[in-house]
Parts: sequence; structure tokens; C-alpha cells
Amino acid sequence: MTDQIRIVEMGPRDGLQNEKTPVSVEARIVFVEALVAAGLNTVEVGAFVSPKAIPQMASSDQVLRGVGHIKDAEFHVLVPNEKGYDAARAAGAKVVSVFAAASEGFSRANINCSIAESIERFKPVLARAKADGVKVRGYISCVLGCPFDGEIKPKAVADLAMTLWDLGCYEISLGDTIGVGTPLKAREMLRAVGAELPVANLAMHFHDTYGQALANLYAGMEEGVRVIDAAAGGLGGCPYAPGATGNVATEDVVYMLEGMGVKTGVDMDRLLATTNEVATLLGRPPVSRVTSALNAK
Ligand code: HMG
Ligand code: MG
Repeated sequence: MTDQIRIVEMGPRDGLQNEKTPVSVEARIVFVEALVAAGLNTVEVGAFVSPKAIPQMASSDQVLRGVGHIKDAEFHVLVPNEKGYDAARAAGAKVVSVFAAASEGFSRANINCSIAESIERFKPVLARAKADGVKVRGYISCVLGCPFDGEIKPKAVADLAMTLWDLGCYEISLGDTIGVGTPLKAREMLRAVGAELPVANLAMHFHDTYGQALANLYAGMEEGVRVIDAAAGGLGGCPYAPGATGNVATEDVVYMLEGMGVKTGVDMDRLLATTNEVATLLGRPPVSRVTSALNAK
């Protein structure tokens, strides 16, 4: 349990994609720079999706180019199809993420196609990425419940994870998009997926809507999962997941891990400062409990 955990920072993408207040390209770049300076060296910085669907992620090409000078960090971007891949590559992307869903209802709402159709869209992306030497991460949304279809069977998640793995994704990030999971369910789902592909190649992407994310992450760590997606300040949510709130807060994850003796390499003071700066920009306080506690000191 105390070996290295890798945190994939979601703030500039998942964190900002649902925000009402527009955040400028310049501020998004400053946000990424500050996260890397705080020790978060894997950051999802944008999404090459339809600007009509997610206006907040427009100009992700400028953000990706704008952080190109930062060394020793890995930047991820979402791509739903070849059009997105073309744009991401033109802006210099070296790691892209495709995103599927374990439920038909969410797949349709989020990316306007069935699960099977989404896989067909990803196939040329993965083939081209392989030829280009680009790493591809694969997300699965709604692994512990769907706002449209309700309960999701662990086997459905495991089968889809296997499909993405066979297509060549180096890591499968399992999304509790609406944060409804509880620890034993999370464990059951992770065991089902871990029975099909290496646990070392799984990531946990848990939204904290019901305040269960840390407990679910702990259950997943007990199963051997060592990659955690988190967003500074607990920012985030998906416009196609009614009622969903942000990712688990990076500060909360760092506090838990460091308290368990796991070295994260994250400078909490710098992270706190960054979170507070973004909160000022957005005009509301961060939801992170750790940030509230440290701010009150
Ligand atoms: P579609 O309507 O099926 O696609 O959308 P289309 O090929 O028919 O094109 C429709 C329009 O979109 C056209 O423009 C295309 O050019 C444009 P128009 O002619 O109407 O002006 N288009 C694009 N523009 C920019 N970049 C592209 C692109 N592709 C088509 N790549 C599509 C399909 C996926 C594009 C659309 O539904 C979309 O962009 N959806 C947004 C999905 C999204 O970003 N969701 C949030 C992120 S996922 C998430 O948050 C979950 C996650 O965090 C894990 C978890 O928590 O579970 C990852
Ligand atoms: Mg998410």
C-alpha cells in the first residue's frame, strides 16, 4: 500500500469543462504551469471535442502549445475521433485519451453514438497513434452507475476495458462519473476488470458527488491500483452527467496518501495556492475539505 502512486491531474480539463465562468487561454496555461510547479507532472490540459458541445474546452490547441515549453511533464488531451486526433497532433500532443462509456445511455448523451460505434471511431485513432508513437489512454465512464441506465454490471466494464486494452490503450481509467460508488462496489468492479487485464494498467477516476471518492480510492489501492485521477480543488463535472460534481480533490488525495506514508512529490503549499487562485478566478470557494481546513489555519 505504501509504494508509489501516480496522480493524473484533471483540473484544467475535467475541472474546467463544466464551469459557467469562461477561463481564458492564458489563465489555463498559468494553471497548468502552477500545477506542474507544485509537483503534478501528469496533467490533462484540454479536449479536442466539438466547441458547440463543450465551449469551455475551445482553444485547447493554444493551451497545449502554450505549455510546450514545460519539460519533465506529460500532458494529456481528450480526443473523441480522428478529427480530434488530427487537431491534437497538429498542436503537438504526445498522449491522447479516448473516452467510452459502460452504458449506452451515457455514450449517446456524451458522444452521440452507441458504445460499439464509439469503438469504431477509436480504432483509426489507435492505429494512427501507434504508427505515430503517440500513447493512448482509454476512459470508461459510468463504471459504478449511470444517470440514464442505472446499475452497471462489473462484467460490462471488464469487457469494455478488455476491448480498449486490446486496441492498444496503455492504461484504462475507470470513471465513476456521477460519484455514486461505495467501497465494496468499487472493489467488486476493480476485481472484475483486474481479472481481465493487469491491475498496473488501471486508473481510478472517481467523482466525489456523494463524498465517497476517498473511501473508494482506498478500496482500489487495496486491490493494487496505483494510478489516481484527481482535480485541484475538487473542480469538475460533466455537462452530460446530470447532478454530477467534481473529481476527487487533489489536495484530499495528497493529504490521505502522505498521511499513509506514500510520497506523492506534491508540494501542498503550492497546490493550495494554485487551488485558491483558480477559485478566485471562478468566483467560488474550492469544495476540497483539506483546502478548507488549511485555509482556516
Ligand atoms: P457528433 O455530432 O456525433 O459528430 O458529435 P459529427 O461528426 O456528426 O460532427 C458534428 C459537429 O461536431 C461538426 O461540426 C463537426 O465538425 C464537429 P458542425 O458541422 O456542426 O459545425 N466535430 C468536432 N469539432 C471539434 N473537434 C472534434 C469534432 N468532431 C466533430 N473532435 C462529438 C460527436 C464526440 C464530437 C461530440 O458529441 C462532442 O464533442 N461531445 C463532447 C464530449 C465531451 O467532451 N464530454 C466531456 C468529456 S468526457 C468526461 O468528462 C468523462 C471523463 O471525465 C470520465 C468520467 O468522469 O467518467 C473522461
Ligand atoms: Mg470525469
